[in-house]
Amino acid sequence: MNEIIEKINRLKLERRAVILAHMYQPPEIYDVADFVGDSLELSRKATQIDADVIVFCGVYFMAETASILSPSKKVLIPDLNAGCPLADMVTAKKLKSFKSQHKNLIVVAYVNTSAEVKAESDICCTSSNALNVIKSVIDKKGIQGVDILFLPDRNLGSYIQKNLNIEMNVWDGFCPTHNNFILPDYVLKVKMEHPKAEVLAHPECRPEVISLANHVMSTGLMCKYVEKSTAKDFIIATEIGILHKLRKDNQDKNFYPVTELAECPNMKKITLAKVLDVLTNMKNIVSVKEDVRQKAYLPISKMLQIVNSN
Ligand code: 13P
Repeated sequence: MNEIIEKINRLKLERRAVILAHMYQPPEIYDVADFVGDSLELSRKATQIDADVIVFCGVYFMAETASILSPSKKVLIPDLNAGCPLADMVTAKKLKSFKSQHKNLIVVAYVNTSAEVKAESDICCTSSNALNVIKSVIDKKGIQGVDILFLPDRNLGSYIQKNLNIEMNVWDGFCPTHNNFILPDYVLKVKMEHPKAEVLAHPECRPEVISLANHVMSTGLMCKYVEKSTAKDFIIATEIGILHKLRKDNQDKNFYPVTELAECPNMKKITLAKVLDVLTNMKNIVSVKEDVRQKAYLPISKMLQIVNSN
């Protein structure tokens, strides 16, 4: 293991490469990552770092977002099959067809979408800024929830609707890991075992799970919240990879997953051997056709403007 890490570190210097990793990555990836973050933090990092190469340890749409924002850098993904089933639940073709039947909709795309879908959207959001992004859209004169199409996550969409007290058009997509495995009965069971624990849930969880949570937040905000909180025990309703970071950074606190079943198989496709392979052979380059990239850049940069002004 140490030998492979040494080789990766040597190649990082040689290639002027930086490794960005999502919180859901396997622990071994944390050991070589230059930065671990949520999807928003990683997008911003991609634009800020001084490097020629980004090795993106996450799922495909995340690497693609980095490539859209930083076209001059080579973005490599250690496994080209690390996809996102939620992102695949909407295609540009389906979106175009919906838009042709419902004129003048403002399309708000969760970052978990392909470049082609982003290119057909007006503004992007991540789970950490979705409420602010939608608020900024409806603050524009005359725009109401019904004028918005939010896609593709129905659970995040429902959370936004409840919080902002609006009705939007919401795509019927979901993250299988959050939606199918993190169930209210499991939350209640873990809560019985640890009655003093606070429940922190990702907004991709089902509404019945969200209603049992003390706080609903993105993975990045969970990490920040836990660090500041005086509470000692937390039940975590999101993909279990985040527990590694939470435990590492907060050794005096206790973290309980809702279920060990909440594991994203795509995130776990990334291994140290594959990181070494792409850095050695400069392969699995993620690139987006220039015309699509330019169109997809706009909704992402609109989101980043809102984030930067808050
Ligand atoms: P975050 O924005 O919280 O990192 O979530 C990304 C994601 O894909 C959750 O499934």
